[in-house]
Amino acid sequence: MSPLVSTLHLYDIANVKGVAADLSHCNTPSQVVDFTGTSELASSLKGVDVVVIPAGVPRKPGMTRDDLFNINANIVKSLVEAVADNCPEAFIHMISNPVNSTVPIAAEVLKQKGVYDPKKLFGVTTLDVVRANTFVAQKKNLKLIDVDVPVVGGHAGITILPLLSKTRPSVSFTDEEIQELTVRIQNAGTEVVEAKAGAGSATLSMAYAAARFVESSLRALDGDGDVYECSYVQSDLTDLPFFASRVKLSNKGVEALISSDLQGLTEYEQKALDALKPELKASIEKGVTFVQKQA
Ligand code: LMR
Repeated sequence: MSPLVSTLHLYDIANVKGVAADLSHCNTPSQVVDFTGTSELASSLKGVDVVVIPAGVPRKPGMTRDDLFNINANIVKSLVEAVADNCPEAFIHMISNPVNSTVPIAAEVLKQKGVYDPKKLFGVTTLDVVRANTFVAQKKNLKLIDVDVPVVGGHAGITILPLLSKTRPSVSFTDEEIQELTVRIQNAGTEVVEAKAGAGSATLSMAYAAARFVESSLRALDGDGDVYECSYVQSDLTDLPFFASRVKLSNKGVEALISSDLQGLTEYEQKALDALKPELKASIEKGVTFVQKQA
């Protein structure tokens, strides 16, 4: 539906023609083109500005995102190799889980191909922000449109850290509310996985969040100088090489990492930040080692 999308290329290993025919009937200015199977992967990527990668298998109840590593790591690796070969300048939006590891995997693949631009590789964590905004607005009876909660760290369990003290407009929470909201935001993906009872994980809210992040990227690519989103990117805001924070976007990708959200954290947030680092570090190293071992 976005007027900023001129052409939408859809790629999958099967069932693309039907989806493309279906979407192509919407009265929007964008063209829809379908590509099926690995023999059409290269053509699907030629000339593309933004590549969105939601490929792979979803969780079932009882699984963590990391349990998807063995299957999804290889899928992500081959897709990013094709991106490197066919549209190395594109923004890459990584949705495939475990995002904490698939973004480092993508970075290593791009480095091996000699085309890594850290400003253009994004782990999509917009759904964490969408959820945080929704839950906070509900709990505090606020107009949803006004609420903005930065979510930092990563995209799995305790690595998802909503900075409720930085909520805009400024809101005060009791300690119990902070605990309850933080845990709900961290477990929101699991809430959906359990409700779907084996039929997968979030797809509709994920698509909504991904569309928001794509729209923001397209605005930035179009020259809008006032675009901010949270994303899991290469970062020097902490001692970890990848970290989600608010970033300013430009047509070059990440224009700036917003460090102010991490200043003046509450004791609760500081403890949660310290606690998430070992898990996030291990997930990053797992992704890096996966690619380096195969080199
Ligand atoms: C989500 O947050 O909903 C996604 O990462 C999917 C999942 O497995 O939870």
